Amino acid sequence: MPPADNVMEKLGSLAKRRGFVFQSSEIYGGLGSVWDYGPLGVELKKNIKERWWRSMVHEREDIEGLDAAILMHPKVWEASGHVAGFTDPLVDCKQCKNRFRADDPRLKGPPGDPNTKCPVCGNKGTLTAPRMFNLMFKTFMGPVEEQAAVIYLRPETAQGIYVNYLNVLQSSRQKIPFGIAQIGKAFRNEITPGNFIFRTREFEQMEMQFFVKPGSDGEWFEFWRAERLKWLQGLGIRAERLRWHQHGKDELAHYAKDAYDIEYEFPFGWQEFEGIHNRTDFDLSRHQEHSGKKLEYVDTATNERFVPYVIETSAGADRTALVVMCDAYHEDDVEGEKRVVLRFRPSLAPLKAAVFPLVNKDGMPELARKLYDALRGQFNVFYDDGGSIGRRYRRQDEAGTPFGITVDGQSTQDGTVTVRDRDTLKQDRVDSGRLVDYLRDKLAG
Ligand code: GAP
Repeated sequence: MPPADNVMEKLGSLAKRRGFVFQSSEIYGGLGSVWDYGPLGVELKKNIKERWWRSMVHEREDIEGLDAAILMHPKVWEASGHVAGFTDPLVDCKQCKNRFRADDPRLKGPPGDPNTKCPVCGNKGTLTAPRMFNLMFKTFMGPVEEQAAVIYLRPETAQGIYVNYLNVLQSSRQKIPFGIAQIGKAFRNEITPGNFIFRTREFEQMEMQFFVKPGSDGEWFEFWRAERLKWLQGLGIRAERLRWHQHGKDELAHYAKDAYDIEYEFPFGWQEFEGIHNRTDFDLSRHQEHSGKKLEYVDTATNERFVPYVIETSAGADRTALVVMCDAYHEDDVEGEKRVVLRFRPSLAPLKAAVFPLVNKDGMPELARKLYDALRGQFNVFYDDGGSIGRRYRRQDEAGTPFGITVDGQSTQDGTVTVRDRDTLKQDRVDSGRLVDYLRDKLAG
């Protein structure tokens, strides 16, 4: 495998070239670690999110969906512990004004020590002692910028679920155990963001909180670990690039009794992209305490009252998209020529097929257009008549499009077209009247 930087650089430039991901506000020099999804990227991420939503909400009778607002009452973040505890220790260089995490491996020596060098300007003794820095973005609500109106952009979607726990329970008439799922934006003023869309300041989470009776939490925790791994394997991610990491005592978040990360072997090393957490009754108890509202569950069969425990599955949509892209990225040798191809599972691919007239004459463009119009109602397809057919195939390989449909001379005679498979490069001749069924068959899964 080529060096990590090289792969990430290549993936970043492919992502821009083909319209997956662009740097935010690029014409102004870009905004640090904020990214925009282009025409293909938005489709890829949407396919991942839809798959998640289907498996969590539609296919299960014990999970309900929710879309809570990003802006929440500031007391939510006091209750959750984020105001006091969602902090990283940071070090400033008094000389060059750069800021680092206190555990930045580039710092050689303890920050604050007169012999420690700044990793950027190289001066000795210019680094401050570590200071705590809260990762939440603040903003102001109302017309006056005063302390009373300070609110936060949510750093996780989970809290929107906890504060709506009773609303959902009562309106949906669910019984414990049951879950609430949500997909939405979260914001963190990360200090060392980077690795493309891996760690960003604005990102999307796909979180599900499953409310259970205390005592059954261990069993549900294992259930959800198994379910999440199965789901990820369904995305077509190579099993040997996935592994579990159980949090040690020193890693556990303030709310967690047990936690596992699911890690992927990125070109820059093993890193987590999803977590399964046993959050106990921490969140609901804290919200009960801070809001003064009872959040107990009453089991009508036994008359027992308890604050439910929560098993959380928390995934990043952007990080999962990066996993899918890294896993799909391949460089092949085709007849002595290098080919870059994204081998997405067809159901995740942004474009399902591309339609090409072999040449722009002899009735081929007209027939190709007609086919394209017919397919567009069923699948996300692309029409391309620019450049040689080889170049058009290569462009779609880089976009990860599973099928290339070519209208050639024979098509205008007998109504058949060739369908090229992105991975095997085999071409089938298919009757254009059967094309929708042919593609539907191949795209399943
Ligand atoms: N509610 C629990 C929670 O938020 P987390 O481990 O902090 O847990 C969960 O975040 C997931 O959200 C991560 O596994 C990752 O996929 C995603 N995530 C967190 N911070 C991120 C960031 N700065 N950029 C992109 N994704 C992020």
